[in-house]
Amino acid sequence: MKKVLLVAAAAALSVGSFSVQASGEAMYNNLGCSGCHGAGGNSMVPSYPSLAGKDAGWIFDQLKDFQSGKRVDPTMNAMAPMAAGHEQAIADFLSGK
Ligand code: HEC
Repeated sequence: MKKVLLVAAAAALSVGSFSVQASGEAMYNNLGCSGCHGAGGNSMVPSYPSLAGKDAGWIFDQLKDFQSGKRVDPTMNAMAPMAAGHEQAIADFLSGK
């Protein structure tokens, strides 16, 4: 598992920061994350946490924890698996907001 993550990280780095951010933004919007967490991660609804400017490593970990069930929230346990393979790109996009 660790090896897979390292390979994914290396692939993401080799693509260059611009396209990684662009695809993170596209995934964030296309998966419907923005519908709850707001445009660019700036939520207008108190029950949906703002994600803009949060630490990328922390966002990545939350998505992994929602996927594994280590962190329990019915909505996010359903949403996080859709971000599989794009956790880092989405986290990088949001932390840069
Ligand atoms: C239907 C509304 C909804 C959608 C869509 C949604 N989320 Fe969430 N998200 C929530 C709620 C509610 C929480 C707070 C869960 C809790 O209290 O533990 C949350 C929590 C989070 C957190 C942790 C934030 C924190 O402050 O602890 C992250 C990261 C996150 N969501 C990312 C995403 C991503 C990425 C997507 C798209 C794949 C997404 N969410 C889609 C409602 C949503």
